Amino acid sequence: MDKLSQLNLDCASRDKNLHTVSPFDGNIFLIGFMGAGKSTVSKALKDLFHLEVIEMDEIIARENGMSIPEIFDKYGEEYFRQQETQLLKNLQSRKNVVVSCGGGVAMRPVNVEEMKKSGTIVLLQASPVTILERVKDSHDRPLLENNKTKDYIAQLMDARRPAYEKAADLTVGTDHKDVRDICKEIIDGVNALQHSA
Ligand code: S3P
Repeated sequence: MDKLSQLNLDCASRDKNLHTVSPFDGNIFLIGFMGAGKSTVSKALKDLFHLEVIEMDEIIARENGMSIPEIFDKYGEEYFRQQETQLLKNLQSRKNVVVSCGGGVAMRPVNVEEMKKSGTIVLLQASPVTILERVKDSHDRPLLENNKTKDYIAQLMDARRPAYEKAADLTVGTDHKDVRDICKEIIDGVNALQHSA
């Protein structure tokens, strides 16, 4: 039995002692719209598989000594986008990590190129209604701050969909699913892709 199949069994049985094997040769990049579940799924992948997680927004905020809304406010969106690209370039040397990307990362072809060099890109999808439910009480997303409506979310999602879908090696829906099942779907999908490569 290969490592990933073993881990799938571990996931099902929740046998924590067996969760220490590192299952990937490359990295996993989680992309998708704000509120699609990237951070939650990353945390679950960390808990279930002991994978290291890199939360891009968190690192950019820490390195700049301010929150994402403050960065947008003080330096503008373009500066933030450059920070995202630089961070992805800096991550090239990393192995076996899950990278939770900001929702705009897959919009830049140069970012997609960087991600493809070192890993598998997994698109997490959710409906505008689900997204609204997940983001409505938070104030850390400048692009949604004054636009928290289903229509606005649907419109921005439609505009971004072609880029998300073009970038994705694998797509996983997160609506009405248990986070453990989402993780299993990701692991199974990445496993299948690696074996077919
Ligand atoms: C953004 C998504 C945010 C954050 C920034 C911009 C976007 O991250 O990077 O507010 O353009 O979609 P999350 O997707 O983690 O909310």
